[in-house]
Amino acid sequence: MSISHVARELKQSATLVMSEKARVLKERGEPVISMAAGEPFRITPPEAIQAATEYLATGRIHYTPSRGLPELIDAVVGYTRDYYNYEIQPTNVVITAGAKQGLYNLLVTLVNPNDEVIILSPYWVSYPEIVRLVHGLPKIVDPPSDTLIPRIEDIEKAIGKSTRAIIVNSPNNPSGVVYPPELIKAMVELCEKRKIYLIMDDIYHRLVFNDVSAVSCFDYATDHSDDSHLIVVNGVSKSFGMTGFRLGWAVANKKVASALAKVSGQNTTCLSGPLQVAAAAALNGDHSSVEKLRSELENNRDKMMALLDGFENVECVRPEGTFYCLPDFSAYEKDDVRLADFLLEKALVVTVPGSEFGAPGRLRLTYCGQPDEISEAIARIRWALDPETTDEINMGGRIVKRSWT
Ligand SMILES: Cc1ncc(COP(=O)(O)O)c(C=O)c1O
Repeated sequence: MSISHVARELKQSATLVMSEKARVLKERGEPVISMAAGEPFRITPPEAIQAATEYLATGRIHYTPSRGLPELIDAVVGYTRDYYNYEIQPTNVVITAGAKQGLYNLLVTLVNPNDEVIILSPYWVSYPEIVRLVHGLPKIVDPPSDTLIPRIEDIEKAIGKSTRAIIVNSPNNPSGVVYPPELIKAMVELCEKRKIYLIMDDIYHRLVFNDVSAVSCFDYATDHSDDSHLIVVNGVSKSFGMTGFRLGWAVANKKVASALAKVSGQNTTCLSGPLQVAAAAALNGDHSSVEKLRSELENNRDKMMALLDGFENVECVRPEGTFYCLPDFSAYEKDDVRLADFLLEKALVVTVPGSEFGAPGRLRLTYCGQPDEISEAIARIRWALDPETTDEINMGGRIVKRSWT
């Protein structure tokens, strides 16, 4: 059987690999705790459920326009006005099957084979793979070793003749870091000057803590014309607890948006009507669930940081958003893949190795679960790694003794 080079070389998502290992252990009845989830398990806003139910009840579940239902496009225009303070037209919007498909279709739209796309490390695992899927070349820019924020001079140095785009994710998965306004401003200036697309993946922009705000690229735009190189990708997955709806959008200049709509039309035809009206209802609703989630995550973040402080040898940059953190565990084990396997085997805690995100020596830990689970997971990790703590631990009602040092 012959498989394409792209498909053969594509990496499997590390999060899915770890989740699969955890699922097998769980099936065996092991008390596994997952710190690897990429979604808060929250209930969908009631107005979204009601809108989808009413649409289904009409019995007319047919194709919709490939750019998206007008009512959802209008809701995105309103959302961009309210949360970005930026006026756009419906012709600037394309609805996509989640932010992920938005990114993929955008790269199909913008990237020719062997064009480079700059990715800032630490990065979401899917970016390099999505770039490879469209036959582009990912170009990774690392931050200085003592921070998780890349420097504008290093980004500028990475730009070459075939650079088409820079993908930026702030608040950042996996670090939880929010890039400072000066960096966003400098990237906007750079991209406008060099005619490179700045693709802002804003999927976590509402999930920020301590009055920090994730500034919008539009705040610094000087080119508002049809040649604007600023593109925003967003969606309802994370902030509205609607990951299963698979609904997102892209905001771009009219030419890019039309080309993107053409690509979407050819690879997806259109998105499901009931799910689109649900997303529109969530965007047009009171957003109370977003604030509730945000404040719960902030408490969880505080708890996680206090627990990690208990380790003498673990450094962790305090997240200002998302529901992830990226502590450095290299004092215990430099090989983070081995460490993640060790913690799963001994402590039954699922983590994701930092090297998957371009950050070796670290582990990505999620804190979108229940506070008790976070405490228990960190206690188990500590027990597994730190011989100074107690020898025995209760794991799901079973007393386990540490037999290694
Ligand atoms: C940075 C980032 N962008 C995009 C996505 C995917 O979002 P969606 O569910 O809307 O496709 C994720 C999901 O984990 C993510 O972490």
